[in-house]
Amino acid sequence: MSHLLLIGFMGAGKSTVGRLLASHLEVPFVDLDAEIERAAGGRPVSEIFSAEGEAVFRAMESAALAALEGAPASVVACGGGVVLDDENRRVLKSLGTVVYLKVSAAEALARIGDVAGRPLLERGDATAMAATLLTARETLYRSTADLTIDTAGLSAEAVAERVLAAVGDGEAAQDGAS
Ligand code: S3P
Repeated sequence: MSHLLLIGFMGAGKSTVGRLLASHLEVPFVDLDAEIERAAGGRPVSEIFSAEGEAVFRAMESAALAALEGAPASVVACGGGVVLDDENRRVLKSLGTVVYLKVSAAEALARIGDVAGRPLLERGDATAMAATLLTARETLYRSTADLTIDTAGLSAEAVAERVLAAVGDGEAAQDGAS
């Protein structure tokens, strides 16, 4: 049993590409942020951040990730900060194939558009904050991933095709059933 886990910065296309991959591989798609929101009784991520603080959100994120152990094989879109925690990085590697969808800070912001609802970007200068966060995380994304796909200028469909070509169509995110 092996999951296919997408990591990378906000705006990298993890959710869009993840849905395409899950559909192609015929496995469930899991959005880790959505799982956290569900566990929080339907409260959005931004509200968890503002009401409880980032530390509480991160603890919920770790719990949602750990809950994938033993779950049916799926394609998982992880939140951009999942790699910040040592244990999360260990869990990610143990869960399956980890793919880093690389995006520049400028392209990420262009794709995101309105930063409302992105607690780490909406408080101040989003351009400066995105660059700072990405620089701090780049090494963690790379060291956690089994492979990196540079998404610059690519459509979600093209990124999904590259992921499938790289991981071997049907080899990741399946439990041998098909
Ligand atoms: C975060 C990314 C968000 C979400 C939260 C924190 C981050 O997910 O988990 O706002 O630290 O980069 P996406 O990467 O899906 O936007």
